[in-house]
Amino acid sequence: MRRFNHVIVRRPCKAMVEGITSGLYPGSPEYELALDQHDAYIEALKKCDVDVTILPPDEEYPDSCFVEDPAVLTEKCAIITNPGATSRNGETHSIEETIRKFYPEERIEHICDPGTLEGGDVMMCGDHFYVGRSERTNEEGIRQFADILGKYGYSCSEVKLEEVLHLKTGVNYLENNNLLVSGEFIHKPEFQNYDRYIIPDEEAYAANCIWVNGKVIVPEGYPAVLEAVQTMGYDTIVVDTSEFRKLDGGLSCLSLRF
Ligand code: GLY
Repeated sequence: MRRFNHVIVRRPCKAMVEGITSGLYPGSPEYELALDQHDAYIEALKKCDVDVTILPPDEEYPDSCFVEDPAVLTEKCAIITNPGATSRNGETHSIEETIRKFYPEERIEHICDPGTLEGGDVMMCGDHFYVGRSERTNEEGIRQFADILGKYGYSCSEVKLEEVLHLKTGVNYLENNNLLVSGEFIHKPEFQNYDRYIIPDEEAYAANCIWVNGKVIVPEGYPAVLEAVQTMGYDTIVVDTSEFRKLDGGLSCLSLRF
């Protein structure tokens, strides 16, 4: 059974109002409310028996609270990504400084130009990693990622995205063969052998729940998904993410869990 010991989060910055958004969930984030929601997110994580490293806001990067994208952290190695979003590319430098406190130098790997990859496109299922080929993660990034994972005994396969921002926008693994799946991922052959909960269209945002040491954190306002996750047998914690949703961000984007 997987276990996470550490979580890294970064406090939202005031510049988050300038963050990238598709406009799917309209409105501009309210900063003070985002801070309150981030506090609640940290409290939820602390209930999952992990230590939480809280990084200060970084005003240079409006989307920098979404720490999942500049790195992928595994049991055996850390991979500093190369975000495909130009305005986010420099987020890797400060996250790498933090990651050096947890991983030895020889186990810190990098995705390099012309490869791009964002952590939101990576879904870890045991020793296998699904990687979304998206507007942010390209073929060369996936090739480099697969090479790195191979060195550590992990496998990797590509999932072509047609609609959503990141792979984990629409599909998330809750361990124990349980998968939350929505939209374009429902009919993908690679996910048919999981115990799937098919998310109704009106709750698509809640495909992005996170499993942390046996508990599942679920976004507020999605009763069908909440009930489904509870029926799977998980303890659940509900956190309001409305201000991050306006930037297409979800529960997984807000932390690195390892
Ligand atoms: N707003 C988060 C992102 O687009 O990466």
